[in-house]
Amino acid sequence: MAAIVPAAGCGARTGLNQNKILASIAGQPLLSWTLRALLQAAPRLRNLGIELTQILIAAREEEFEILQPFLTPHSILHTPHSALIALIPGGATRQQSVGNAARKADTDFLLVHDAARPLVSIDLIERVVKSALQSGAAIAALPASDTIKIARENDGIAVVGSTPSRADVWHAQTPQIFQRALFLRALENANCENFVGTDCASLVERIGANVALVPGEIENFKVTFADDLLRAETILKARALTLENALN
Ligand code: CTP
Ligand code: MG
Repeated sequence: MAAIVPAAGCGARTGLNQNKILASIAGQPLLSWTLRALLQAAPRLRNLGIELTQILIAAREEEFEILQPFLTPHSILHTPHSALIALIPGGATRQQSVGNAARKADTDFLLVHDAARPLVSIDLIERVVKSALQSGAAIAALPASDTIKIARENDGIAVVGSTPSRADVWHAQTPQIFQRALFLRALENANCENFVGTDCASLVERIGANVALVPGEIENFKVTFADDLLRAETILKARALTLENALN
């Protein structure tokens, strides 16, 4: 299995003067926490007969130099790991960034996980992998807790167009895992139709394939705004304390 980590955005909504994936959280860049989570999941995946052989980070080329230290698994996890970590040039949209990496992968399955979701758990990764192995396509998603409104425009203002049943509404997260051949077919179709999706599953849905929904985790939120960096730091520090207490 290849992990694809889209990291080629600029994090405009955080309001920082650098890409959010480089922001320091609990003493390490955000991207390190995300890569560490993926590497830590690898032994669990091995028990399922799945080897994590590649981690492809889609990044902005002007950031390649600063990202060089991230390319040694040892420098992230402090234990040896054989996954090959490589930088792939990202694109103008997340879809292009993932596509560039997907074409470089040489595995049957792709696991796409946002660089900006550093708090994903090993358990969640394992659950989505298990589901994708059975169905060919599976994503983590959170059942909606709020009622969702579909908007339409009326006389220049947004009004409620419709209200889907809350029981049918889920918030998509990552990991999103697909058979590579299925995803490449979906990507080609989306490109032909000039469709740009905000996640990978939306491309796969368009070609009629079933994408399984796996209950996600509240803590697996995407760092988007400045407050999210603080929230992530609080959780990572609490996890470190719990680990320390367990070891003492
Ligand atoms: N991403 C990417 N290539 C792009 C745009 C986004 O690889 N052209 C990545 C981001 O680096 C991030 C993930 O996709 O890890 C989710 O996107 P988002 O949260 O929107 O991040 P940014 O686009 O960086 O943030 P913003 O939209 O606030 O600028
Ligand atoms: Mg964005």
